[in-house]
Amino acid sequence: MQPTDVPFGMQLVQQAGWNQLEADWHRALALHPQGCFLAEQSEGGLASAGAPVGTVTTCIFDSVAWIAMVLVDASARNQGVGRKLMEHAIAHLDDRGVVTQRLDATVLGKGLYQKLGFEEEYEVIRMKGVGKSINGMDAEAMRWSADTRDGPILDLDFHITGTRRDAFLHLLAAENIFFYALFDDELAYAGSRKGRNAVQLGPAVASTPEAGMQLCDAMLHHLNGMPVFVDIPAPNKAALRWAKASGLEEQRRFVRMYRGEKIKDYPESIWASSGPEKG
Ligand SMILES: CC(C)(COP(=O)(O)OP(=O)(O)OC[C@H]1O[C@@H](n2cnc3c(N)ncnc32)[C@H](O)[C@@H]1OP(=O)(O)O)[C@@H](O)C(=O)NCCC(=O)NCCS
Repeated sequence: MQPTDVPFGMQLVQQAGWNQLEADWHRALALHPQGCFLAEQSEGGLASAGAPVGTVTTCIFDSVAWIAMVLVDASARNQGVGRKLMEHAIAHLDDRGVVTQRLDATVLGKGLYQKLGFEEEYEVIRMKGVGKSINGMDAEAMRWSADTRDGPILDLDFHITGTRRDAFLHLLAAENIFFYALFDDELAYAGSRKGRNAVQLGPAVASTPEAGMQLCDAMLHHLNGMPVFVDIPAPNKAALRWAKASGLEEQRRFVRMYRGEKIKDYPESIWASSGPEKG
């Protein structure tokens, strides 16, 4: 896949009703330019030969990789395109010595991934609502800017997600609003990503429930009046309670899956999930 294929990628996103914008494709291409693939129609299919019909992106963080943006044009589904794209992505990652492959599956994708050796980890629940102002909140005092000393934040993210994803977080934080708080024994950050349908609150991780709640409140306050999605790992009960108390409602679920070695992460401390594809 090349940057010139992004408009095709956006057609598929719109068709599937997903939330990504062009910036999300460009970020995926920037993170791993050789690891984003396009399927083209061969002779004899419904679409004309050479026409693009599907996409997949991968990104590698040391020994852990994420697969995302698995999309096949509706007119080309159930003909093996999705399987071919996935097999290509898996082989690409295997060739590079990746130990763990992860993805967030939709209902449509889960069956295919199981056939390819992916196993379920935990559910991620998409909560939907509207940002609202919170009395006394000074979110701007917690703004993560280019000159933030972010070593401890990146280390916390690594500890909780089991993935060293500094490059991804820096790309995302350069384009979007992030807040963070550093106290003696409490540390948390929350980011955001613009979307087609709603602003995505996340990624967000926290060393304590109190810190998680404070940072997610700061982001909700900042997004006052705007439609918001928050993808919360089901094991984080405190985050789900916070979301419900903040007026958010469940919209849909994903299943986080892995292939290869299971990594140790702490989903109970992830306040807003973030496969790299989701921000
Ligand atoms: C999911 C998606 C990519 C599958 O693409 P596809 O080209 O239709 O898939 P394929 O034709 O290659 O099917 C692959 C295999 O999965 C099976 N399969 C497909 N959909 C399935 C489903 N909903 N449940 C169970 N198995 C399914 C097929 O039978 C096939 O099995 P086989 O290879 O053993 O015959 C496609 O439906 C799509 O783009 N959906 C919308 C976006 C989306 O949800 N993407 C997944 C993100 S996690």
